[in-house]
Amino acid sequence: MAEVLSNPTLQSIFDRRSIRRFLPEPLTEAQLETLVQVALASPTARDRQAWHFSFVADPALIAEIGDAAVETFRRNGDQAVLDRLASRGGGLLYEAPLVVFLSCPGDEQDYKGLDCGIAVENLAVAATSMGLGSCIIAMARAAFQGESGAALARRIGVPEGSSFAISIAVGRAAMDKDPHARDRSKVTVLGPEAR
Ligand SMILES: Cc1cc2nc3c(=O)[nH]c(=O)nc-3n(C[C@H](O)[C@H](O)[C@H](O)COP(=O)(O)O)c2cc1C
Repeated sequence: MAEVLSNPTLQSIFDRRSIRRFLPEPLTEAQLETLVQVALASPTARDRQAWHFSFVADPALIAEIGDAAVETFRRNGDQAVLDRLASRGGGLLYEAPLVVFLSCPGDEQDYKGLDCGIAVENLAVAATSMGLGSCIIAMARAAFQGESGAALARRIGVPEGSSFAISIAVGRAAMDKDPHARDRSKVTVLGPEAR
């Protein structure tokens, strides 16, 4: 196998892990504003920028959103999810000092959800480069279901006609994690010699 190149950007991509335990210390204003600019620097299909980013750095509100999601799983009798969350501890949003909720209009066919996916990974890699941990969290979707969920979405600034796409918890990591296994068979490389 050929050598793998190294530079600070590549290092952050390789060092990123899903962190599920955080120190309670809040992010500095500079860290927060940097992540805001990272989010806005993300590319979007046809430069539509149809996403919205709700940066929530209020521990009480983060706990309320996490609890609302857990309540939805409880209502739906989704015991497998509840067990998984209980085994991890810290609730659905892992008591992170910052959670960014990404929302967008449209459906999966129009790339707006994909735009959110790209932006959330930008945030994850940027957080790593800043010495912070992060975890992308899809399960927070459950917080925004039903009438009370719609009210919660309005409270965090989700625009009318948009809905939750993905979220990311960010903060100083209070745990280490090994990288996930990389399966080289997931990749096909076709150079000219393959003709
Ligand atoms: C779209 C997406 C949704 C995810 N949702 C959750 C989630 O709801 N809760 C969680 O703890 N981790 C979630 N993860 C993190 C994955 O579990 C994690 O990326 C995977 O186990 C690989 O581990 P790594 O991120 O440390 O490489 C999500 C990741 C992605 C990309």
